[in-house]
Amino acid sequence: MLAKLTKYRFSAFIAAAFFVCDAGAQTAVTEVQAPPESSIPAGPRGVAIQEGRKLMNETHQRLPKNVGNGLNCTNCHLAGGATANASPWVGIWGVFPEYRSRSGKLISLQERINDCFERSMNGKPLPYTSAEMTNILAYMQWLSSGVPTGVSVKGRGFGPVDQKLKADPNHGKQVYADKCASCHGADGSGMKNGEHGYTFPPLWGANSFNDGAGMARTYTAAAFVKHNMPLGQGGTLTDQEAVDVAGFFTHQPRPVYPGKSHDWPLGDKPKDARS
Ligand code: HEC
Ligand code: HEC
Repeated sequence: MLAKLTKYRFSAFIAAAFFVCDAGAQTAVTEVQAPPESSIPAGPRGVAIQEGRKLMNETHQRLPKNVGNGLNCTNCHLAGGATANASPWVGIWGVFPEYRSRSGKLISLQERINDCFERSMNGKPLPYTSAEMTNILAYMQWLSSGVPTGVSVKGRGFGPVDQKLKADPNHGKQVYADKCASCHGADGSGMKNGEHGYTFPPLWGANSFNDGAGMARTYTAAAFVKHNMPLGQGGTLTDQEAVDVAGFFTHQPRPVYPGKSHDWPLGDKPKDARS
């Protein structure tokens, strides 16, 4: 009887322990979603989060010394960095420092942010201790609320595209004319919105990302396009169309990033890296 009771108690304990774990798992977030606005606290931290978000949405206008083209961070990291398969920042707080083969070492989140300033924005890095960098970190930390440390969200990066497909830029030019030019312009220079920024951002030319940017790589761009473009119709292109159009627009004239010759120092350069 006593043994039976103990056994029962033991399994009840195990069940209770599982219940607690389950409840814990339910509050952990691994889907890409922005936390509710109401979770932005009052006081200095809340102000920093709001400021960081403005810097991400209006980067070109607010950080003219650090941005050398016409882009905002959220032209690629869509909807404030809270879109799956558009390289979301949700969960990014808990995965850096991280090893990157492009750098051949572990890099901090600040270094990763500055990589995009120097390449995607064709600009200059922010000082690590600047108020702007701190505000961007505060925003990314808030976006990552509830995602466990060390866990990548589902939809981190740009999603899959068939990397075995070879790009046919001539067909890509046709896809571009049919499905992209109406917004991004026949010459890829986008459509301006007054003095500051663009309604439709440029895909090549002086105001676009440079050739050291991740988006200048055919398969990275193809994955972004496949899942997100034409805007509002993500997933409508075939993998071949996405690879072809990416092979076309990434290789149009754009600013040159001299530092790219130092990339992948350990010799594991991917096949679509620019030289
Ligand atoms: C032209 C498109 C583009 C713009 C604009 C852009 N990025 Fe990125 N960003 C990328 C790409 C592409 C990657 C992934 C590159 C890779 O891993 O090959 C990336 C990755 C990142 C990552 C790491 C994501 C992860 O899951 O590891 C962070 C953080 C980031 N960008 C921040 C920024 C910030 C901050 C800005 C503005 C200063 C910015 N990006 C502007 C294209 C862009
Ligand atoms: C309906 C208009 C529209 C169409 C059509 C469209 N885009 Fe876009 N695209 C946008 C907008 C707007 C953004 C910026 C999104 C944001 O800031 O939220 C964007 C962003 C981008 C970006 C990242 C920012 C940059 O300038 O580098 C790329 C790359 C891109 N589009 C490629 C394409 C390709 C390729 C096609 C055709 C397959 C296409 N787009 C079709 C509206 C469009």
